[in-house]
Amino acid sequence: MGDNWVSACPREALRSGEMTMEELSGNEIVLADVDGEVFAFDGICTHALGYLDQGDLDGYQVLCPLHEGRFDIRTGKVVAGEPDEPIAVYPTKVQDGTVYVNVPE
Ligand code: FES
Repeated sequence: MGDNWVSACPREALRSGEMTMEELSGNEIVLADVDGEVFAFDGICTHALGYLDQGDLDGYQVLCPLHEGRFDIRTGKVVAGEPDEPIAVYPTKVQDGTVYVNVPE
């Protein structure tokens, strides 16, 4: 499985503490800026398909809007709540003012 860096959004479109959902290579992926660092993770909660970009970002954790499941966006691991399965997380990089995400094809 090789690299598949996909252009996601302008870096300046992401502000600290905020999230945005993008469709990248057919996946709904959330981009989040935490203290100037960009993270990318699956936008659909593994519990009952809540849209994580509609939830809250709390430091390095995202809180699902439906049943308050909590995931660590650095690892995808469940921190609290109903979900049993982690969410996928993806490497990011910023090049020439654009955020890229490495999404498996
Ligand atoms: S759908 Fe996310 S916690 Fe239930």
